[in-house]
Amino acid sequence: SLELAQLDLKALVRTIPDYPKPGILFRDITTLIEHPEGFRESVERLANAHRGLGVTHVAGIEARGFIFGAGVAIALGVGFVPIRKKGKLPGQTIGQNYALEYGVDTIEIHDDVLDGSHRVLLVDDLIATGGTAIAAVGLIRRTGAVIEHAGFVIDLPDIGGAEKLETEGVTVTSLIAFE
Ligand code: PRP
Ligand code: ADE
Repeated sequence: SLELAQLDLKALVRTIPDYPKPGILFRDITTLIEHPEGFRESVERLANAHRGLGVTHVAGIEARGFIFGAGVAIALGVGFVPIRKKGKLPGQTIGQNYALEYGVDTIEIHDDVLDGSHRVLLVDDLIATGGTAIAAVGLIRRTGAVIEHAGFVIDLPDIGGAEKLETEGVTVTSLIAFE
């Protein structure tokens, strides 16, 4: 029936060429989250893919990872841990430099929230090179916590980040692919 037809999430993502640099096809999720069912369905599908795994926390990466990660944490009934760009977290942090599709940056996590008793799900809007996600997994593992799953709204499979993340022992789930 019409009601059961699945929403076309991919059609809700806007593509902007040459942003933020020439040659980059920017996959813009602002058009997806502006759509109430698109936003809700993205969060629900990421949450449903990670039920029954004993996840104790969702970690989301600033800034776009906060949008989806916060929703997934609420849907799973677990807490949310922010992974932020350098200098934004007020407590004691550990940090990691990394390269992404269009630059370099540093991310940080508070060092007193996660430990070996925790199982973390990483959430972000998009994986391209995997540089950001692999840096985040490294930070989470340095806290002692277990991370075996990551969820993304968008994968760019030709760039190979998801495959690289899997070689780090992380099972990757994504909702949409742009070849
Ligand atoms: C984007 C995106 C991912 C990362 C993916 O974040 O939200 O975090 O790039 O690229 P990678 O797989 O090549 O590492 P960006 O650093 O642009 O930050 P934003 O969320 O603050 O816009
Ligand atoms: N982050 C890294 N590569 C990206 C892309 N092509 N579109 C949107 N965000 C990105």
